[in-house]
Amino acid sequence: MLRLKHLAAGGRLAVSLFCITVLAALVSATFLIVQSTGSTSLVDIDAVKQKYTQSLLVGAMWGSMYEYVTEDESIHIVERWIAAGTPQDLYDAEVKAVMAEDCTNCHSRSSTMTKAVPSIPLTSFEDVVAFTPRGLPDGKLLRGLHFHLFGIGTALLAMGVLLAVTDLAAFWKVVIPLAGFVGLWLDTGGWVAGRFTEAAAYMIVAGGTLVNASLAAMALLILLDCWIRIPVLSSRPPHAA
Ligand code: HEC
Repeated sequence: MLRLKHLAAGGRLAVSLFCITVLAALVSATFLIVQSTGSTSLVDIDAVKQKYTQSLLVGAMWGSMYEYVTEDESIHIVERWIAAGTPQDLYDAEVKAVMAEDCTNCHSRSSTMTKAVPSIPLTSFEDVVAFTPRGLPDGKLLRGLHFHLFGIGTALLAMGVLLAVTDLAAFWKVVIPLAGFVGLWLDTGGWVAGRFTEAAAYMIVAGGTLVNASLAAMALLILLDCWIRIPVLSSRPPHAA
């Protein structure tokens, strides 16, 4: 049977460099999470909820636009309106006044404020409703699914195959890649589920953690197995090496 250790040094070097590249990709992905959620804590469940399960409107009010919100109750008014299915009468009765008080100074087609954003008006019912669908917007969701399923699926396959030709016990060769695929499906499934439930944030965090742990473990184990024997996890006795 093919074993990594039987590859010529050049082959093992190529496999090792691939593993180091995967580890570098994981480190950069970690920084990307920190950067895109704007949080220094790696697992900031509130930031995940905001990005993947809230509407852009509520997300902005709790997040980047919070400084303009006069009181938290204004956000709760908007949340109740969205939960009720964005009816026009509730908009006219409550939401319109919140927008007029806190937001339309800047968010109107005719605003003259220095920070004006005429491209994101919040002056009419239709304007505001456009920001109420929950979760990632269609384009971001589809792009994210496409790149993650293709990219990480391929990385998991490559690492899984390499792991299969290490000296590790069969148990690890099954469990570690499996955990990665389960994590990938949990993570990406959570992005879709985020449009319906806030609980999806936990799927995303658990899934992302599993994928990263699986890839990191495989990269390290394969890298080590190219050059040395890993006693505790291996199935082969030393003399077979
Ligand atoms: C002082 C001016 C100002 C006020 C007041 C203001 N905004 Fe904004 N808003 C901006 C600017 C500028 C941007 C674009 C920022 C960017 O894209 O980085 C923005 C962007 C947004 C976005 C898009 C965010 C995104 O992630 O794409 C939303 C939604 C939003 N604002 C909602 C609101 C709401 C709701 C209020 C009222 C509570 C509000 N804004 C008050 C200036 C303002």
